[in-house]
This record gives sequence, structure tokens and C-alpha cells, in this order.
Amino acid sequence: MNYRHAFHAGNHADVLKHIVLLALLDALKRKPTPFFVLDTHAGRGRYDLHDAAARRTAEADSGVARALGMGTQSAAIGRYQQAIRACNPDGHLRMYPGSPVLAAMAMRADDRLFCREAQPDEARALATLFARDGRVHVQAGDGWAAIKALLPPTPRRGLVLIDPPYEAQLLEFDTALAALDEGLRRWPQGIYALWYPIKRRRDLQPFLRGAAKLPCTQILLAELLVRADDSPLRLNGSGMLLLNPPWKLDEELAAALPELVRALGEAGAGQRMEWLRQE
Ligand SMILES: C[S@@+](CC[C@H](N)C(=O)[O-])C[C@H]1O[C@@H](n2cnc3c(N)ncnc32)[C@H](O)[C@@H]1O
Repeated sequence: MNYRHAFHAGNHADVLKHIVLLALLDALKRKPTPFFVLDTHAGRGRYDLHDAAARRTAEADSGVARALGMGTQSAAIGRYQQAIRACNPDGHLRMYPGSPVLAAMAMRADDRLFCREAQPDEARALATLFARDGRVHVQAGDGWAAIKALLPPTPRRGLVLIDPPYEAQLLEFDTALAALDEGLRRWPQGIYALWYPIKRRRDLQPFLRGAAKLPCTQILLAELLVRADDSPLRLNGSGMLLLNPPWKLDEELAAALPELVRALGEAGAGQRMEWLRQE
């Protein structure tokens, strides 16, 4: 396993993923009853954009840096900007919060977060970050196995975020679909959010066909392309596959995506929101 999120923290994919994550958490907070979050591929939780890995790729420059600087009418983008600013109180963008930190910032006292991370040093860093937060449980190990081990959860409301590195390329799409299928069978009412990379669009077709067959009546996808999706060599964009998305999330994302295209996109950029199933 070679993937290190430090090289990619705050890139356009993180911007999309984390805007959607915060919108999902906000929707869960509309009810006072506690919720559960499982982050199957959690990473180390916090990334220093000044360190050597982040500087080498400078991916955050065309991701979070632009997202933070843009004017916006979108509540979802505004909430994301607020969270990033809260992590950088002196006004200079340096620390980028990963999904577990964003979730923990949004959670209330009785909400619970379970994180799995396979790389021991990343898991250790994450555990250290949350050592004093009794709401957060960090487990070193396989995130896919957590679907069987932890679902269905108590309380029964909540969210599973699945954010794999796709190192095994197309194979990992199949693993992700199998995990969603298993999760839905164990916990049909859970919200599931799977991040996926977009390089060349036509390579996605088998995955999207498989996604439309999952045992779920509400399946939405939201994609942000920062350039044309015709090269297999670059991360041209990414998407979030959302199962059982909360009411009106589609409207929130429909307002946010065109703004993100304008702020983060190059020639050939675009966005897509589509219900794969809506019964
Ligand atoms: C894209 S990064 C996660 C970023 C994080 N979700 C965020 O938004 O801040 C993917 C992470 O998955 C970890 N990983 C890879 N295979 C895994 C597995 N089978 N189970 C759990 N974690 C895994 C990698 O070490 C890496 O930290």
C-alpha cells in the first residue's frame, strides 16, 4: 500500500467530498436524536499543507485554496469555508482537516464516529488526535471489514463514508459496490456516501451500471470535473455516489456544483447530478 493522503489533501476531490460530507452531517443534525458515522478509510485526520508531501504536488492550491477564496451563494460551500477557516484561526490556510476531523467538528455530544485506517502510522496519528474525545473511536485495520463488524449500528440513524484510495484501480470499484450491497442488507436505512475518481468517463460505465442495481430506492450521484474526462492518466474529477441521501440534498448540491466548476475548473470542466434511482 503506497497511497498517502498527505500528497493530495485539499485537492479538488477533497473539496467535493468534504462539502458533501458536511451537508450530510448537517442534514442528520436536523433531528435531535443522536447519529452514528463510520469513516471506513479515514486517513490521519489532519494535514499540514506546508509539509514536503503537500508542497511537492501543490494540489491544494487548485483545490481548497480556490474554494476558500471564492465568493459563494451556496450554503454548502459556505459551511465548508467556515470549517476550513475554523481550522486556520490566524487567517492563513495551512492545516487541512480530513474527514474524521470535519465529522467530529460537526458532531454533537451524543453522536458517535468510528474510524478505520489500514496504515498503522496514519491510524496512530488519528488516534492521537482524538485521544481525549470520547465520541470518536479509531480502529487500525481494514475499513471494508468494518461494514460487517459495525453495521447495523446503535443508534440506527447515520452515515457511512467510504473513501478508498483506488490503488487497485478498477478492481476497487467492485469491492466498493460489494461493500455497499452488504451494508444496505445489514442497515437498509443508513446513508452511504462513496467517493470515486473520474479519469476517463467510459471506464466508469460498469461501475455506474452496478450502482444502479444496488438494493436501494434512492441513489444520487454528484460529480465535479475540473477538466475534460478523457484522459486515463490524470484525476480529472470525482464523484460522490449517495445512497438514501437526505431530503433536499440534491437541491443543495445543484446550487454548489456550478459555482465549484467556475472556481476550480479549467477548460473542459463540468459537473453532473443525476438520480440513478428515485422511487
Ligand atoms: C483517500 S484517503 C482517506 C482520506 C479521508 N477519508 C479524508 O477525507 O480525509 C484513503 C485512506 O485509506 C487508507 N486505506 C487503504 N486501504 C484501506 C483499507 N483496506 N482499510 C482502511 N483504510 C485503508 C489509506 O491508508 C488512506 O489513508
